[in-house]
Amino acid sequence: MRGLVILTAAAAGLLFLPPAISAEKAAHPEPARWSFEGIFGTYDKAQLRRGYEVYAGVCSGCHSLRLVAYRNLKEIGYSVEQIEKIAAEKEVPGDPDEEGEPTTRKAIPSDKFVPPFANANAARAANNGALPPDLSLMVKARLGGPGYVHALLTSYGKKLPKFEMDAHGKIKKDRDKKPIPFKMGDGLEYNPLFPGGKIAMAPPLSDEAIEYTDKTKATVPQMSRDVVAFLQWAADPWLEDRKRLGVKAILFLILLSGLLFAWKRKVWADVH
Ligand code: HEC
Repeated sequence: MRGLVILTAAAAGLLFLPPAISAEKAAHPEPARWSFEGIFGTYDKAQLRRGYEVYAGVCSGCHSLRLVAYRNLKEIGYSVEQIEKIAAEKEVPGDPDEEGEPTTRKAIPSDKFVPPFANANAARAANNGALPPDLSLMVKARLGGPGYVHALLTSYGKKLPKFEMDAHGKIKKDRDKKPIPFKMGDGLEYNPLFPGGKIAMAPPLSDEAIEYTDKTKATVPQMSRDVVAFLQWAADPWLEDRKRLGVKAILFLILLSGLLFAWKRKVWADVH
């Protein structure tokens, strides 16, 4: 009982503690909220289509997306004709011709997204020796997931202290209050979000880097949020199905508990 009283008092005390906000906090990346969060979270299809436009218009110049096929774009609202047109802009290796020489053909909807470089060496050669990673599972591969990628894309040039953050891009704890000292090497950019602070990717986004079909204003944070949502979908296209099934399973279990309880009362009615 005493333990309980102390615990409650401690919990109440926590509520009144001043939040640990320092002057540097103001410089932290703006946390993003995602439509796909929470048990009822779903994708915002319009946002995913904008995100695809950012990927196609900017990121696809360096980053492959090998696990996604053109026909998957149907899931985010593109029509078959649109998808055929998008695919046909790319070339893929075709069957050998009669002389056995290699040929190429236009990509079709069942092809996977065609990578920008023929192989890793070509990719490195074009990027100062750094390899742009495949983005298919990027949001799953990094601690902080979508929050990290969003913060990375929007923190170029900001001098931030080192910190850890959660999936919303919210700061969990400052590891070191001082900005990282930096001397940039060739082809390296300062980005406090990247481990070590030096990244071999030049700031990919700038205002109006693309023109959205739906006329949304293409600011850096807007494009970043959209492309990150798109990459989240690319890494986890089953999110909505999974959540729907989860909610159904919980409802079923609640119902079942009720039935079993009623049944137990009936069976034991004579005994009590
Ligand atoms: C001009 C080429 C180029 C473009 C365009 C580009 N990137 Fe990169 N990107 C790179 C390179 C090179 C790296 C590897 C950086 C390193 O290892 O230092 C990289 C790394 C990354 C990483 C991994 C960071 C990490 O934690 O390892 C992410 C995420 C990323 N890019 C996202 C994007 C997104 C999203 C876009 C489009 C908005 C984009 N990039 C556009 C070249 C590019």
